[in-house]
Amino acid sequence: MLIKKAEIKSSEITDKETYLNRRNFMRGAALVATTAATGLLYRGLNSPPPVTREGEKIANIVRPAPDGSGFSTDEAKTPFKSITNYNNFYEFSTDKGGVAGRAQGFVTKPWQVSVEGLVNKPKVYDLDELIKLMPQEERIYRLRCVEGWSMVIPWVGFPLAELLKQVEPTTQARYVAFETLYDPKRMPNQRTGVLDWPYVEGLRLDEAMHPLTILATGLYGEVLPPQDGAPIRLVVPWKYGFKSIKSVVKIKLVTEQPPTTWNIQAPDEYGFYSNVNPNVDHPRWSQADERRIGDLGRRPTLMFNGYAEQVAQLYTGMDLRTNF
Ligand code: MTE
Repeated sequence: MLIKKAEIKSSEITDKETYLNRRNFMRGAALVATTAATGLLYRGLNSPPPVTREGEKIANIVRPAPDGSGFSTDEAKTPFKSITNYNNFYEFSTDKGGVAGRAQGFVTKPWQVSVEGLVNKPKVYDLDELIKLMPQEERIYRLRCVEGWSMVIPWVGFPLAELLKQVEPTTQARYVAFETLYDPKRMPNQRTGVLDWPYVEGLRLDEAMHPLTILATGLYGEVLPPQDGAPIRLVVPWKYGFKSIKSVVKIKLVTEQPPTTWNIQAPDEYGFYSNVNPNVDHPRWSQADERRIGDLGRRPTLMFNGYAEQVAQLYTGMDLRTNF
């Protein structure tokens, strides 16, 4: 975001050839997934994990992404190594290449997510319980960072709307506020003043209820590595990456537009909406194009990150230059 660092060398990137085979296997295996299998999902998180925790499969993917409606792209997936070694996660490091190492061993069990505020049925969910409750889907989404790079990421997760329906938002609820864990012992960079902690984000209720908006618990069919926001993070594919808040502990339904970390940090540069819009430059650089990680050249950035067909109607009548 504010600080630009050298990007990962292409020589360090290897593809995940086995992924497609494994994915087909999981689709089959999902049919026989049991509650016991679900329990395996977060097994072993307390032992010192390798940087990528390869092999720790999501046990309860019960359905692949539904066809159409932008739930999946057939663009080439960004290699696992890049997704997990080129990260923005300021709680651990401002150096994209340094997050994975510093997040290694981040303890994510037990983990609770409180869903509260203007709802009829507030509830503190134990993460294991939440995962059992919510059918996990694979969603292959583009992620476009405000810094001008992008990836294609096969997430595993569930629609945020499914969770919000459980708690029954009241008629006063208009926005959803999200909060990351605040624990400087576990997230060492929170001891610095590089951002106001905890990291916070927000969506309008209709954005939060949109079927493209998910809470992700895994990627490439495996549990989310710490550096990508373990154990649960928001993914909003039509907005700049910083809206997709990591390691979420609180989801609060509110009436007023909630504060958001990057807007607090630099209000002229990062608005509340943060929709990917190639026609609105960042004050310090163009947003017209992007570099897909692994590519040499740049490609044009698409309105709403290519999801205009699905989400443009959410913003009918709004001036997206003012509401950037
Ligand atoms: N969430 C928290 N809590 N802290 C962060 O620093 N960085 C954001 C977002 N979510 C961030 C965060 C930014 S700037 C981006 S681009 C994405 O996470 C990056 O997600 P990735 O590292 O999984 O690609």
